[in-house]
Amino acid sequence: MNNQNYIDKLYYRYATKKFDPTKNLDDEQIEDVKKAIQLSASSYGLQPYEVLIIKDMDLRKKLKAVSYGQPQITDAFRLLVFCANTKIDEDYLDAYIKNISETRGISIDDLKGMRDTIYNTTLQMDEETKTIWAQKQAYLALGNLLSAVAHFGFDACPMEGFENDKYDDILGLKEKNLKATVIATIGYRSEEDQLQHAKKVRKPQNELFTEI
Ligand SMILES: Cc1cc2nc3c(=O)[nH]c(=O)nc-3n(C[C@H](O)[C@H](O)[C@H](O)COP(=O)(O)O)c2cc1C
Repeated sequence: MNNQNYIDKLYYRYATKKFDPTKNLDDEQIEDVKKAIQLSASSYGLQPYEVLIIKDMDLRKKLKAVSYGQPQITDAFRLLVFCANTKIDEDYLDAYIKNISETRGISIDDLKGMRDTIYNTTLQMDEETKTIWAQKQAYLALGNLLSAVAHFGFDACPMEGFENDKYDDILGLKEKNLKATVIATIGYRSEEDQLQHAKKVRKPQNELFTEI
């Protein structure tokens, strides 16, 4: 891949405030978004999150009301809600070990060492710490989504500006052992969004990096 081409796309990407509600993504684009999220790295590969992809406009209007009225929620093609799993227990771990076993053709016995390691580390965290850990993994998936969308040539807006507990209530997440963590909208930018022309504001590299 041409690296400069990728860097140019990262410059092109911005947190889109105004989406064009008339421009849709097609099924293939949505499939690619799903793959980019699915292929995200996560601690031990546990992927302790699920992502809701919301089309329903009535639901999105309700969610917008608890997202400080941010217009992206209803203007974009889809709203994605990254939800942390709040129940990472032995059943969850065993389902993961079974997936590795079946996918890679390794016996469950041969995966015992890995299971023990995860059991003795992640599963021993208290519930609050474990949820924070799960939320961090969800943010990594969000990061992957943002880079992927830039690469694909459409737009996204990551958002923390919403009332997490109200999302949990509206979407019935507690019953599913999920917690709304961070959201993103995807679609195409509106030509009217002036922010797309603004220069990137970033720390200078000498403040960001130390080479030792
Ligand atoms: C985790 C996270 C939460 C954010 N929350 C919001 C938000 O609620 N509303 C919004 O308009 N932008 C939000 N942003 C966008 C940032 O303001 C934006 O990424 C930052 O200013 C850098 O600009 P750029 O992404 O356009 O380069 C969020 C970004 C991140 C990564």
